[in-house]
Amino acid sequence: MRRALPLILFAIGLAVMGIAAVVALTPKANVVATSSVGGPFTLTDQDGRRVTERDFAGRTHLVFFGFTHCPDVCPTTLQQIGDVLQALGPKGRDVKALFIAVDPERDTPAALKTYLASFDPRIVGLTGTPEEVAAAVKGYRAYVRKVPTKDGDYTMEHTALVYVMDGQNRFVNALNLARPPEAAAAELDKML
Ligand code: NI
Repeated sequence: MRRALPLILFAIGLAVMGIAAVVALTPKANVVATSSVGGPFTLTDQDGRRVTERDFAGRTHLVFFGFTHCPDVCPTTLQQIGDVLQALGPKGRDVKALFIAVDPERDTPAALKTYLASFDPRIVGLTGTPEEVAAAVKGYRAYVRKVPTKDGDYTMEHTALVYVMDGQNRFVNALNLARPPEAAAAELDKML
């Protein structure tokens, strides 16, 4: 992914979230707003277990879309997420961050397991069939596009938002990681 792109996608994402936030201000539309980002999914984790969004309900958690061949944004973000979880201290012990693979063709459960070994163990890798991943992407209003590269290979453009989801799988906020992990952790802490 080109470096400027994640920022653009982040801005587009925020615009989408902004719309959701405005809708949430109208009491009658509240149900629509809370259900407009997120939603049901069925995917496979890095250990080959079939999981759904219900497996992560009951506690605030993070959701991030990406792929293991991502040259910079994904590894940087996963590292930052790990730093934030670390900064939460004991209170963050059971907080999960879901890394949903937007490149299921290459990101098998085994590939995710190997890749995520370099990051915080609270980051859960999720993948599935192209249809299952597409359903999750759609549910979270994420943007994903496969882009051919000059060498005949391909890369994936994708939304780089870190979604904060509450214990009832409702979207709360996009976690801003452009600050010290302690600051992001302090904000997250209030939602736990
Ligand atoms: Ni990426």
